[in-house]
Amino acid sequence: MAPALQTRLLQADEAGIAEAADLLRRGALVSFPTETVYGLGGDAGNDLAVAGIYEAKGRPRFNPLIAHVPDLAGVERIAVLTDEARTLAEAFWPGPLTLVLEARPEAGMSALVSAGLSTVAVRVPAHPVAQRLLRAVDRPIVAPSANPSGRISPTTAAHVMAGLSGRIAAVLDGGPCGVGVESTIVGFAPRPTVPRPVVLRPGGLSVEDIEAALGAPLATRDEGARITAPGQLASHYAPDAPVRLGAETARPGERLLGFGDVEADWNLSPRGDLVEAAANLFRMMHEMDRDGTAPIAVSPIPDEGLGRAINDRLRRAAAPR
Ligand code: TXA
Ligand code: MG
Repeated sequence: MAPALQTRLLQADEAGIAEAADLLRRGALVSFPTETVYGLGGDAGNDLAVAGIYEAKGRPRFNPLIAHVPDLAGVERIAVLTDEARTLAEAFWPGPLTLVLEARPEAGMSALVSAGLSTVAVRVPAHPVAQRLLRAVDRPIVAPSANPSGRISPTTAAHVMAGLSGRIAAVLDGGPCGVGVESTIVGFAPRPTVPRPVVLRPGGLSVEDIEAALGAPLATRDEGARITAPGQLASHYAPDAPVRLGAETARPGERLLGFGDVEADWNLSPRGDLVEAAANLFRMMHEMDRDGTAPIAVSPIPDEGLGRAINDRLRRAAAPR
C-alpha cells in the first residue's frame, strides 16, 4: 500500500480545474463530478495511473474501465463508431450513456484500460465541470465510480472524501450529481448475428429512450450474453501459449514472466512493486503473445493488495480452455 496522501479538496473554479488537469497530466488520481456519479480519474495513457486506480479502490479484479472524453472527435481518436453507435452518440452525448466500441490500437491507451479486450468503453459526460476538466486535460481520462470496491457509488465530494481520502491526490468539488446512478452501458452483440445494440448495464438512460432513438428493439440479454460480463469469464484473456503459475524458475523451453529479483525474459517488476507489476501485466502478456508460442512460466505473485487482482487475471490466463 502506498504511503497516505494529503487529499486536496479543489473548488470547481478556473484555478481548481486547471490544478486538477495538471495533476491528471502528471499521472496523479483526481476524483471529479459527472452527471451520474463522481468518477475516480486517471490518465488513460499512463499504465501506472491506471494501475493506481485499482489500488486506490482496492478492486480485487481488473474490470475494464470507461474512458471519458469531451466530444465525438475525442471518441473517434480512440474507437471506431458503427452506424448504430453514431445514432446513439448523436442522440445522447453528452449524457449518461457509455458505448462499448472497437478500440483503435494506435491510440496509445494503457492495455490495462480494456483489461485485455479489443474493445473500449467510452463516454462523453454532460456535467459542465467534467466537460471543462476533460477539455483542459486534453487526453482520455478513465474513471470508475470513486468509491472503495464494494461500497456505494459517491454522488457528492464528501462521499468521495469519506471513502478515498489519503489514497488519491484531489477531489474536484462540483456539488451533488444530478442523475445519481451510473451510465447505461450499451454494447453490440457480435456476429454471426448482425451486430445489434444490447444493454450491458442498466443506468441513467432508459432502454425506452434508446429504442426510440434507434427505431428498433435492442438485442436480448441472451444475444448479448457473450459480452455482458467479460471479467467473469474464466479464460477471458489468455495468450496462445500455455501458462504455468507459481514458477520459481523456468523449465527448459519455457519463457519466464518474472516478478522481483529473478532472471526473467519479461519482468513485471524487478523491484517487486505490485502497482508497477499491475501497470505492466496486460502489455507484457500481449508482448509475450506476439513473441511466440513457447510455454510461459510466471513467478509467484504475493496475494495481497493489487497482487490479488494480478493473480485473479493470471489464473484466468492459465485456466484450461
Ligand atoms: O456513470 C458511469 O459510468 C461512471 C462515471 C464515473 O462515468 N463510471 C462507472 O465506471 O460506472 P465503472 O468502472 O464503475 O463501471 C464500468 C463498467 C464495468 O461494469 C465494466 O465491466 C464495463 O463498464 N466495461 C468497461 N469496459 C468494457 C468493455 N470493453 N466491454 C464490456 N464492458 C466494459
Ligand atoms: Mg462502480
